[in-house]
Amino acid sequence: MGASCIAPFKGSIAATVRPDKLTINQAVATVHPLASQSAMRVLKAGGNAVDAAISAALVLGVVDGHNSGIGGGCLVLIRQANGEILAIDGRETASRHATQNMYLRNGEPVPDLSQSGPSACATPGQIAAMHQMSLKAGRLPWKSLFADSIRIAEEGHAASRSVGRSIAAETTELSKYRASREIYFRSDTQPIREGDILVQRDLSNTLRQIADQGPEWFYQGQFAKACSEYIQSIGGILDIEDFEHYNALLREPLKSSYRGHQIIGFPPPSSGGMHIAQMLTMLERFPIADWITNAPEKYYHVLIEVMKRAFADRAHWLGDSDFVDIPKSLLDSDYLAERMSDFNLIEASKSIQHGIPPGQPIGQRTDQSTGQNTGDSVDKRLQPEDPADKKHTTHLTTADLEGNWVAMTCTINTSWGSKVTVPGTGVMLNNQMDDFAIAPGTPNAFGLVGAQANAVGPGKRPLSSMSPTIVLDAMGEPILTVGAAGGPKIINATLQVILRVLDGKQDIASAIAAPRIHQQWRPEKTWFENFAGTDASSAIPASLIEVLESYGHRFESSTGLAISQGIQRQRDRLSATHDPRTQGLSVAE
Ligand code: GLY
Repeated sequence: MGASCIAPFKGSIAATVRPDKLTINQAVATVHPLASQSAMRVLKAGGNAVDAAISAALVLGVVDGHNSGIGGGCLVLIRQANGEILAIDGRETASRHATQNMYLRNGEPVPDLSQSGPSACATPGQIAAMHQMSLKAGRLPWKSLFADSIRIAEEGHAASRSVGRSIAAETTELSKYRASREIYFRSDTQPIREGDILVQRDLSNTLRQIADQGPEWFYQGQFAKACSEYIQSIGGILDIEDFEHYNALLREPLKSSYRGHQIIGFPPPSSGGMHIAQMLTMLERFPIADWITNAPEKYYHVLIEVMKRAFADRAHWLGDSDFVDIPKSLLDSDYLAERMSDFNLIEASKSIQHGIPPGQPIGQRTDQSTGQNTGDSVDKRLQPEDPADKKHTTHLTTADLEGNWVAMTCTINTSWGSKVTVPGTGVMLNNQMDDFAIAPGTPNAFGLVGAQANAVGPGKRPLSSMSPTIVLDAMGEPILTVGAAGGPKIINATLQVILRVLDGKQDIASAIAAPRIHQQWRPEKTWFENFAGTDASSAIPASLIEVLESYGHRFESSTGLAISQGIQRQRDRLSATHDPRTQGLSVAE
């Protein structure tokens, strides 16, 4: 979809400092110190922000492999020093043999099949996307970007707390696959724990081959062959031609405006750019700056209300824009004003449904192409116990002294993806097929429902919540980039960081540390963070929750809603922040 929506700038903002005048002018933030150090090393070796992001992403695949890796995909926004924006879509793609009903048995959806094992895997996209990044905007040779990941995989590193915990949580599923057992278990029964040295020689060799021989080795050579033969031998459908047909795609970045800033988001198959733009437009007529500080009950109330409306639209309208028409008018300002026309300042809305944007036929809210239900009713038998508790994916960000900025979100979907490692390669494959709506009204691992627009289809890309975002000032210079990990929580976490920086005038560190809420329309409740890992002084107090409950909202507490990284430019310096909810590293110098 050519989903550009460039609204004229309103108001004025302070004069900008040109990037070439910055005194702190390169910055990096990731969830793992080894990845951030790798990015900084690349910058110091003469690489630019794009090279640094590729190196960091490869290292993350080695040291944070439950979240991302070359068996998965990524969405990347690059703001180049010359002002051009690239949106590179490395989303995994369903096999050409995939069918709409492939996860039904006797007519009933079986989510286990899309969430784990060989049927859950889609063709990986990360290597192809990183190669496009390197060709279009990188500086250093492709091969040199693999040095750190190859070395760390070969020599081993101490498993992080997050890796230890996620292996412990997925021991049963991981142990089903021989190659996964061999890597992530110390013995037949003992999984790797935090602090154990994790050596990945097969992965090191795979990375070396891709470094030496290029992405062809992955998509047309030995990896494609080994992967498809193994997947088919254990009941999956990916074949060698799925790999040969895979392409990372250049998309039109999704541009919108908010209070005089230009917001650059990622278009479909991400839903993030679209719904962040929708929510910001709905919020623009409210005094958010005042409410964040002086009327938090109003701030959280209006946030919940815009989140409900955006996620209701997501469930109905969004999917892979190469397969379905996604109405551009979802970003129409009159449509979004109409969506909020029943907003009541002291009462939660009841029974929100998706809207009908201009140009779409008004009628019953059934799916136009199938007559099936739209996903508005949820099969509660299949609702995950706590969809907000799912942790996975990773967001990294880099900026350099020339003015290149990168926002890159990488994923293999839920922790350890499909749990299937391809023998002899060390590559853990994604379970991204679960991001499709496997049947209308059937929640995925994150409790998200969808309709025909996001139904499974051959060669189609599943809808994502990944939301790499770059904010430009009135001069077109980048002042903020942010994104997150955490399924649908990504969209809302990214929104809340943007609001706290642009309206709340908070610095990026405070904005990321601040407690968050999350509401995704279905299930009908709102999560709020209540743990002290964040900025405890600004925690959401029980008395505030009580006020919001008196409006009719239902709440559940959560120990963490998304992991966000960001870079901000203030006056003559860049600052980088990793989320205090995890053990990352951010550097600016
Ligand atoms: N796999 C999570 C997402 O892309 O939203």
